[in-house]
Amino acid sequence: MNILRISCSPRGPSSESQRLSQKIVDRLLAREPAASVVERVIGDGSLAHVDANYALAQHSATAEVSALGGIAQSDVLIRELERSDVIVIATPMHNLGVPSMLKAWIDHVVRARRTFHVTAEGKVGALRDRPVFVAIASGGRFSGEQARQPDFLTPYLKVILEMIGLHDVRFFSVEGTGGGPEAVEAARARAEAALEAHFAQTVQSG
Ligand SMILES: Cc1cc2nc3c(=O)[nH]c(=O)nc-3n(C[C@H](O)[C@H](O)[C@H](O)COP(=O)(O)O)c2cc1C
Repeated sequence: MNILRISCSPRGPSSESQRLSQKIVDRLLAREPAASVVERVIGDGSLAHVDANYALAQHSATAEVSALGGIAQSDVLIRELERSDVIVIATPMHNLGVPSMLKAWIDHVVRARRTFHVTAEGKVGALRDRPVFVAIASGGRFSGEQARQPDFLTPYLKVILEMIGLHDVRFFSVEGTGGGPEAVEAARARAEAALEAHFAQTVQSG
């Protein structure tokens, strides 16, 4: 099994979303000790935004585009996705949605005539479906009765991943990290319980 982890926090290994994603990776590895983990770190801003050449390629099937620049970067990221059996995305919520680093990655991998096709019925995903786990950290709550802000992160990720063929998407979150150590501990415990329930259920059914 090949696990691809995409790490989107600027806070690197000490980030809360990375910590939560590690809990997921550990559970996957406990099930499949021989699995490999491919790390794609983008939270440090190392992934360039798409360039003019890439925009041209998206624009038209007949456009003269170079195989270099943004297309080459897109090819690498899409191949990483294609080789994976499970995808783990570790991401903070930034301004109610995905951080710009994750949006840059999405712009590279959601590519016309490559990971989705435009048909008369709409856009159809081209990737083989596989499980996607999303580990989210947020300063405030965005789900449940105590949510005090809208959530554009989970609905957006669900739809955009579906567009390229990834339908099996599960969200786990540590919400309220801005509330101090006790709030963080409580949020971690809630996330842990949700993970426990999910993995216990999939072991039983699988
Ligand atoms: C630019 C920026 C925007 C943020 N916007 C939100 C927000 O809209 N809602 C929220 O709950 N927290 C927001 N936060 C707080 C982070 O989501 C929170 O600190 C989270 O725990 C960071 O996760 P990480 O440790 O994985 O980076 C924002 C943080 C930054 C840096």
